[in-house]
Amino acid sequence: MIGAGGMARAWIRNFLPAFSDRLDVVGLVDIDQDVLDDQADFLALPAEARFTDYKRAFTRTDADFCIIVTPPWVHRGPVEAACRAGMHILMEKPIADSWKDVRAIYRAVQRAKVKCTVTQNYRYNPNMYTFRQVLRSGRLGQFNYLMGRFLADYRRFASWGAFRHEIPHSLLIEGGVHHLDMLRNLADSHCVQISGYEWNRPWSSFKGESNASYVMKMANGVVAHYEGTCSGAGQQNSWHREYYRAECEKGEVVVDSDGIVRITTRHNTTGAMTTTDVPAEKTDFVGHSFVIDAHLNWLSGGPRPETALQDNIYSNATMFAAIEASTKGKTVDVEALVRQAAG
Ligand SMILES: NC(=O)c1ccc[n+]([C@@H]2O[C@H](COP(=O)([O-])OP(=O)(O)OC[C@H]3O[C@@H](n4cnc5c(N)ncnc54)[C@H](O)[C@@H]3O)[C@@H](O)[C@H]2O)c1
Repeated sequence: MIGAGGMARAWIRNFLPAFSDRLDVVGLVDIDQDVLDDQADFLALPAEARFTDYKRAFTRTDADFCIIVTPPWVHRGPVEAACRAGMHILMEKPIADSWKDVRAIYRAVQRAKVKCTVTQNYRYNPNMYTFRQVLRSGRLGQFNYLMGRFLADYRRFASWGAFRHEIPHSLLIEGGVHHLDMLRNLADSHCVQISGYEWNRPWSSFKGESNASYVMKMANGVVAHYEGTCSGAGQQNSWHREYYRAECEKGEVVVDSDGIVRITTRHNTTGAMTTTDVPAEKTDFVGHSFVIDAHLNWLSGGPRPETALQDNIYSNATMFAAIEASTKGKTVDVEALVRQAAG
C-alpha cells in the first residue's frame, strides 16, 4: 500500500479491516516516517515491510496488487512501478493531476495488461445508488436533463487539507472529478462535449481555481450542468450532501443536503403535485468498500468494476476538457481526448 496518511488512514482503519479474510497488507510506504510507523503499527507490520521509497517497496514486496492513496501528483510513479512489477492496481481518484500523467498511466496499464480500478466511492453511497436506480428503473419515463451542485465553505486556509489550497484547478482536480463522474453515472452515459468556466476570487483561501460552472452533453443526449464552489458562504451541499436533480418525462427526482431521495410528479391537467420519499436501496457494501469488493471480485475472475480505468478515463477526460474549455473559452470534444489517451 502506497501512502499511509490522510485518506490512507481511513482505508487502513475503516475500510480494509472488513476484508481481512480476503486481503492482507504486506508492505506499507510513506515518505513521512511518523505517519508510516503509526499505520504500520496498527497493521502489525515488521520493520522490513515498512518503506519510505515506493520503488524499493515494489522490488522487496511480493503482493498480488497495490493500493495507491498518495496525492494526485504521486500517482503516475507508483502506477508505472506497479506495471513494471506486473501488479494489479486499486487507486484513489483522480487518475492524475495532469492530462499528460493520465495518458501515461492509461498506456502503462494497457501495455502491462494489469487490472486497475479507480475509487469513485460516491457512486455507491446509499442515497446516490438509490437515485440512480430510480432513473434506471424507467418509472419517471425518459430523461430530460440533470443538475449537480457542490457548495462547501472552505474559506479558511487548510480547512480542506492544505495541499488543496495550493494546487492549480483545486476544485476540479480534487473535488469536481467525483461530481463529473456522478453526472455520467446518473446519466448512464459519458460526456461528449463540455463548455464553461473555472475561476478564483480574491476572498477565497485557494491559489488555484476554486469555483466551477459547466454544461455538458452526454453521448445519449442528456444535458448536465455542474455548479461548484469552495467559498460557499450560504447553504451547504458539501461532501455526501451534494444536490442532484434529474428532470424526466413524468417527474423529477431530487436529493439535497438532507440526503433523502425525493420524487415529485405533477399531473399534466390538474396540476396536482405528489412528492414521495424513496427508501434507500440496500447493498452489501457502500462507498469505498463497494469499490474494494468490486476490485477483489475482478481479481478473482469476476466482472470488471464500473470504475475500472478503462471507464474512468472518460471522467478524467471530462475534467481535463473542462480545464481546457475554461482556458480557451470554447466547447471541448471529450471523446477526442479519450481517443488521444488510447492512441
Ligand atoms: N475518494 C475520496 O473520497 C477521497 C477523499 C480524500 C482524498 N482522496 C484522494 O486520496 C489521495 C490522497 O489524498 P490525501 O487527502 O490522503 O492526501 P494527504 O496529503 O493527506 O496524504 C497523502 C500521504 O501520501 C504521502 N506521500 C506523499 N508523497 C509520497 C511518496 N512519494 N511516496 C509515498 N508516500 C507519499 C504523504 O506523506 C501523506 O502521508 C488523493 O488522490 C486524493 O484525491 C480521495
